[in-house]
Amino acid sequence: MKLAKRMSRLNESLTIAISTRAKELKASGKDVLIFSAGEPDFDTPDVVKNAVITAMQKGCGKYTPVPGTKEVLEAICTKLKRDNNLSYTPAQVVTNVGAKQSIFNCLQALVDESDEVIIPAPYWVSYPEIVGYCGGKSVIINTDESTGFKMTAEQLKAAITPRTKVLMINTVGNPCGGIYLKAELEAIGKVLEGTEIIVLSDEIYEKLSYDTEPTACASVSEDMFKRTVTINGLSKCAAMPGWRFGYMASPISELNTAVKKLQSQSTANIASIVQAGAIPALLGQGDEYIAMMKKNFIERRDYAVNAINAIDGLSVLSPAGAFYLFINCKKVDSDSMRFCTRLLDEKLVACVPGVGFGMDGYFRFSFACDLESIKKGCERIAQFVKSYKKD
Ligand SMILES: Cc1ncc(COP(=O)(O)O)c(C=O)c1O
Repeated sequence: MKLAKRMSRLNESLTIAISTRAKELKASGKDVLIFSAGEPDFDTPDVVKNAVITAMQKGCGKYTPVPGTKEVLEAICTKLKRDNNLSYTPAQVVTNVGAKQSIFNCLQALVDESDEVIIPAPYWVSYPEIVGYCGGKSVIINTDESTGFKMTAEQLKAAITPRTKVLMINTVGNPCGGIYLKAELEAIGKVLEGTEIIVLSDEIYEKLSYDTEPTACASVSEDMFKRTVTINGLSKCAAMPGWRFGYMASPISELNTAVKKLQSQSTANIASIVQAGAIPALLGQGDEYIAMMKKNFIERRDYAVNAINAIDGLSVLSPAGAFYLFINCKKVDSDSMRFCTRLLDEKLVACVPGVGFGMDGYFRFSFACDLESIKKGCERIAQFVKSYKKD
């Protein structure tokens, strides 16, 4: 049996692979501490669950329109206006099976063989994988700690070629928690003026911001609004990762039509009950719950940042948002895969190697777990680093 050639361009997600291995070790009775997860440890708020129960009791088992019900599309428009001052019509919005499918659909609809997609590194693991699957070429812009791992307008300018089709922006970012300031996005917007480059702005961690209020990419100028697809969802901010609710909004009607067509021939509508559950979260009825999660995440972040920076050989910037630390381990071992594999084998601590995010010499530590585990994990990492020998 021979698989289609395009499958050779796709690898399994490194984060999912590590978490699966850690969970298997845990299931076999080992005292594994898992810091590889990309999801909040909090359960979905009751307001969402209750909306789903009501929807089920009323009978909502039928297909819905491919982009989503009128009610959910209107709720998304209300959210985008209220939180981000962005004016979209329901026809400009499509709901998807998580933000991952929003990104997948947009790239499928936009990227042809040899088109270039600019991706600042470190990046979310799936971006270059999806670009590769579409036959496109990822053009990686390496960032560093001096800019808080954010791409500058000058770097962007230098990376643009006549083949550039798409720019990926991720703010609040995974794995570094970086947040682009309004002025930084304006400068990026100026560089794009006069080009036909489409911006896919992944804002899935938007509400988990601690030190800076995030600015929606599309909100910084009329020109940016016209070229930007705002991508968001409820996996992280409403603790609904397994529900698979994402969405995209853009004024680019050809793209919206193409994504609806693509989705009509693949998943069609997302689950009707998920759409019903999303409405209260979009309308802000889960905001107190988000505030509670944020308070916990800030406490854990501050503890973990201090504990990691106290370890000789490791250092980390305090993330402005999301729930990850991106830890510099170059002084111990710049081979992050070796570092993380040994950390899991020897100390039963699961973290994700930076190489998966396009940056070796770092590893990602998720603080989306209880403080006690974080304390234990940091102690184990300290012992591990103290006795670390390369080979
Ligand atoms: C930056 C980023 N974008 C998108 C996603 C995917 O979100 P969803 O679960 O809604 O598909 C993730 C999940 O880890 C992420 O970290």
